[in-house]
Amino acid sequence: MDGKEFRDLGHRIVDLLSNYFDDIETKRVFPAADPRTVNQLFAEPLPQEPSSPDSVLGELEDKLFPYCTHVGHPGYMGLITPSPNPIGVIADFICSAINQNVGAYSIGPSAVAMERRVVRWLTDLCGYDEKAGGNLTSGGMMANFIALKLGRDAVTRDQAQYDGIRDRWAVYASEERHVSIDKAVDCIGLGRNALRRLPTDTNFQVRLDALEEAIARDRKGGIRPMCIVGVFGTTNTGAVDDVRALRRIADREGMWLHVDAAYGGGMLLSHEWPMRDRGLELADSITIDPHKWFYAPLDVGAVLVKDQRRLTASFGMKPSYLTDELDQDHERYQYYVHGFEQSRRFRSLKVWMSFKRYGARQIGEWIDNNVRQAKHLYTLAIKDAEFEPASAPPMSAICIRYKDPRLGEAESKNLHAEVAARVEQGGRFWISTTELKGKAWFRINPVNFRTRQEHMEQLFALLQQECRAVGNKTPTRVTRNS
Ligand SMILES: Cc1ncc(COP(=O)(O)O)c(C=O)c1O
Repeated sequence: MDGKEFRDLGHRIVDLLSNYFDDIETKRVFPAADPRTVNQLFAEPLPQEPSSPDSVLGELEDKLFPYCTHVGHPGYMGLITPSPNPIGVIADFICSAINQNVGAYSIGPSAVAMERRVVRWLTDLCGYDEKAGGNLTSGGMMANFIALKLGRDAVTRDQAQYDGIRDRWAVYASEERHVSIDKAVDCIGLGRNALRRLPTDTNFQVRLDALEEAIARDRKGGIRPMCIVGVFGTTNTGAVDDVRALRRIADREGMWLHVDAAYGGGMLLSHEWPMRDRGLELADSITIDPHKWFYAPLDVGAVLVKDQRRLTASFGMKPSYLTDELDQDHERYQYYVHGFEQSRRFRSLKVWMSFKRYGARQIGEWIDNNVRQAKHLYTLAIKDAEFEPASAPPMSAICIRYKDPRLGEAESKNLHAEVAARVEQGGRFWISTTELKGKAWFRINPVNFRTRQEHMEQLFALLQQECRAVGNKTPTRVTRNS
């Protein structure tokens, strides 16, 4: 590909994407095609011969774009993937062009400096001081994993990274934690059974009495408490655990406190409902995902740590030498010795460009709009006797359910799944379902700067219509294309 072809193709792609964003609301949110058809689209052997740019682009227009889930569509309110902000999209283009490898200073000096500044912006937002540090990650799953390893190593006084796990340990988190915590407890060598899944109260916050009981029971049985994981914005309802209380318990027991703010960290930018006074800065480590509620395109998560030397102690292969290096003014900062990953994409560019272009103020306004939309849906559901909300939404995540007294729990679960499938097939919205305290719910979460209040009204009207239709008939089973 010569310079002219790159330029021509690049201009065409920019035009194509501009049109895509302009027209996004006219598209179906989810494609009307079954997985077999979609898989068949790309069923061909490894190409041996080159194709013209026209033909490659043509294939994308025919096969990729029409079968996407258009997460930037204002009706996408499902699993937490935001409408990507346009300058973040451009950032990813630049990022690939210069291909800086921020794992090592020698493969990206200015990129490493920018990444360190973005990490500093995030640690400042969370209320940490200058001793804090962190790594950008592929997402919250990886950030939670790294955080639990940091906790394991700190609590075992830096033995576990050399000797592995010898004693029996336990980790504590609420039933509303994200599944990444279960995986992380497995990956740090404790096994998933070492996770104590604690009940929540009516607001879906972890019950402190249950935490105390679980710790006491473990101690009695010779099991050592390692880490508490608090949630700052649960995936289902945006509940925020009592971080201050968790800190007190963790201090008393000599435990690490990790707080998962992968989704809820966005509330730190909110103007109307700021959550900067909830004690997040008391955590030893924090997960926060710019690719969730800072509207950055995938992928960019972050693990932040109150004392950045813990990163070096946990991952550095020569801790004393590296610890000295941290103190030097003109150090060549090597992310690969202060973190888990080696080769790494320059993820901070899109976060940096987003904050520069929109400012925290604009992003905070988008967040407030999404929270307002969830609160509006809550009001609509409260006013309709056939619906019930799980809790008043503190953030943008809201769960509501259809109450049909004729249905048992299994039937109600089928109804919610069937209605969600019909919503998907209608093409205007995408929502998911979930289970809370043994009941089925619609799970709705606008993390989307294109969503407007009227979309919540249209969605609720559709849910009313579909729930009544499915509830009043022997359902013709409709299944999702998954
Ligand atoms: C609270 C919470 N933690 C962690 C994750 C995992 O994040 P990711 O999908 O970026 O790996 C999610 C995903 O929705 C989440 O809601």
